[in-house]
Amino acid sequence: MSPIIRILEFLSLEFTLLVEEIITNNPVFPRKIIRIAEKKDGGVRLIETDKKSQFQNVEMKEINIDEVLAMSLARGDLFIQTESSRIFRLKRAGDFLEAEWKEKIKKHPKIFQRSYSNAEVIKTLSFRLKRWMDEEDPERFEIELKFLLKELQEQIHSHATMFDLSIAFFEVFKPDQAIIQQFQDSHVILYRRAHLVATLCSVFALSCGYHDPRFVRDLYQAAWVLDYGLVNPDFSYWVALACQAERVRAGSGVAFLREKRASQKEIDLFLAHPVLSLEKAQSELTLAFPEILTSLIRHHEKRDGSGFPNSIPYSLISDWEALLVFSDQFVAYDEVDIEKQFTLALREMWKNVQSLPLELLPVQRVVEKIKKWFRSKISLEVSA
Ligand SMILES: [Fe+2]
Repeated sequence: MSPIIRILEFLSLEFTLLVEEIITNNPVFPRKIIRIAEKKDGGVRLIETDKKSQFQNVEMKEINIDEVLAMSLARGDLFIQTESSRIFRLKRAGDFLEAEWKEKIKKHPKIFQRSYSNAEVIKTLSFRLKRWMDEEDPERFEIELKFLLKELQEQIHSHATMFDLSIAFFEVFKPDQAIIQQFQDSHVILYRRAHLVATLCSVFALSCGYHDPRFVRDLYQAAWVLDYGLVNPDFSYWVALACQAERVRAGSGVAFLREKRASQKEIDLFLAHPVLSLEKAQSELTLAFPEILTSLIRHHEKRDGSGFPNSIPYSLISDWEALLVFSDQFVAYDEVDIEKQFTLALREMWKNVQSLPLELLPVQRVVEKIKKWFRSKISLEVSA
């Protein structure tokens, strides 16, 4: 046991437990050691020995499993205390919770949640999204749309996090469950990125004047499967980082993989994944606007035609395809950054756009529209 934990235990009047957790699928990240301090009020305090971690000294609460919604997303990290008093993380915040999982876990005595979400934000935004989607009367639809846009803009300028937005969009748009589970079973980077990219793409589409709920929902679904081709046994953390490297300059993804002595299979997967995404999505996903799926093949194209796989220049890329490219570029592939972005307010996340090499991407038209919308304020002159 490390001396730091010994000192902490000596100083603490709370009962402590040592938790060891291995982040699966990822040899790059080290084993984490987490210490749980139980408090007299039934809550717990979680202390991670890594001082840079977001888990440093966070509060958790014991919850009843019935408070957890099946067929939805975990509102926070869920931990279980076993009969031998060891504590393990069961689910990460944002993990999909199958009904069968909930049934299985009911037998266990103690479950703790470190919540990330704001229930009020999720409730209000889901309500507005549902009203906009379900309204059939054209006049009422315009009113509901205005309410939604105003709500969205308020949330963006307040402290609503990407996680809250992701849950609201997920619950209303209900992406294909079999696809979600494949992403979740594959790798946390692919799974969380899919949530964030799809949510951002919907927000950006709304801000650019795409107001047909069926079209925005289809864009959301397409954004979910942009990297579906990477859901593959040959995927590795190096492939994810190659995607990250490719942002700066065309060809730097493969150069990165060669430098890291990645296998030929990893290089082939990286280069083929836009085509694989399209093939998988076409056979598994039914959209109201199926032509949207063809854009999956274009999400690594560059402004000057130097991207892959087809070297398509900016002039041949439509605005809604540019929305997908831009949303994809917005979200990091690095696990630490994804954790951060998941909990970040969108307005803070927006600041990160400044560091992206946007001049290389076929996104200029949409970026200007999105920037303008983010700066504007919607006046709501409607009678409810
Ligand atoms: Fe990709």
